[in-house]
Amino acid sequence: ETAEQHAAFEARIRNGEKIEPGDWMPAEYRRQLIRMISQHAHSEVVGMLPEGEWIDKAPTLKRKTILMAKVQDEAGHGQYLYHAAETLGATREEMIEALLTRRAKYSSIFNYPTMNWADVGMIGWLVDGAAIKNQTMLAGCSYGPYSRAMVRICSEETFHHKQGKEMIVLYAQGTPEQRQMAQDALNRWWWPALMMLGPHDADSPNTGVLSQWGIKLKTNDEVRQEFLNEHAPELLEAGLTIPDPDLHQDADGNWKHGPIQWDEFWAVIRGERGLGNERLATRQAAQDEGAWVREALEAYMNRAAKGEAA
Ligand code: 3HC
Repeated sequence: ETAEQHAAFEARIRNGEKIEPGDWMPAEYRRQLIRMISQHAHSEVVGMLPEGEWIDKAPTLKRKTILMAKVQDEAGHGQYLYHAAETLGATREEMIEALLTRRAKYSSIFNYPTMNWADVGMIGWLVDGAAIKNQTMLAGCSYGPYSRAMVRICSEETFHHKQGKEMIVLYAQGTPEQRQMAQDALNRWWWPALMMLGPHDADSPNTGVLSQWGIKLKTNDEVRQEFLNEHAPELLEAGLTIPDPDLHQDADGNWKHGPIQWDEFWAVIRGERGLGNERLATRQAAQDEGAWVREALEAYMNRAAKGEAA
């Protein structure tokens, strides 16, 4: 990699140009994008598990069809993102292997349990709400295939977010049992949703280079601030109590939270707390049970290549 190549690349980034798969790019730019996009894809696929287990327990047919559509959307998001990572030279096999051997991560938020139906609503409001802030930012990313995938994903997330918010507002205005379910869900999902947006900027080793190359247009704390400023007042408006005694608005109107328990964040990511081991076991089982399909496809492709395919 010559200084001239880097200078030309940096100029393209400064000009707001989209970098496309066949373009020259620093190896570190490629590595960072494969890391980030593949982990984003893993998050979408693992993210199907917490809500998927409630599809057959939905309280009405309407809620069941909405949840089925949402979980199917997440599967599709995973496919777009694995394909976006493949445009950088990563193979599906390598990415799945990295997930199953814990060399790759997926979003910490999906290692928390879904205890009852109100969690489905709260995930829509908070988790998809946080995802929209993060993914709207990434829609401006300098890598073409990633930014274009975000545009499509964000429009589907908006539906996920609205259906969750509608559910929780209804329960918050419902019977005392429904209100308590909504409050209990908020108590369990509020802090994990704040953590989902990543460590504080001072503890974020990747943000520097990602910002320099126009991959991340806002830092973790800036996206978290956007999340807080939108959702704190709306949750309070719905009559719920946010489980943070230090939460307040500062002189500029920004909502400020209390200290985040980052030791919990890292323990959940390492699978020492929460459902990380169960989530990976489920993904490993899916990989094993699907082996015959991949083998049949390969056998067919080999025969087709020899002109023997039926
Ligand atoms: N869960 C697990 N790991 C996390 C994490 C989280 N919530 N936040 C940060 N990390 C990891 C990072 O991956 C990094 O580890 P690595 O170097 O081994 O990959 C380490 O912690 C340090 O964090 P950094 O802030 O330096 O990492 P990034 O600069 O990559 O920022 C991020 C983290 C904001 C999650 C960024 O990677 C990102 O924007 N990723 C793309 C979006 C994404 O993955 N969203 C996850 C949710 S997907 C979703 O919500 C689905 C929706 O449909 C519900």
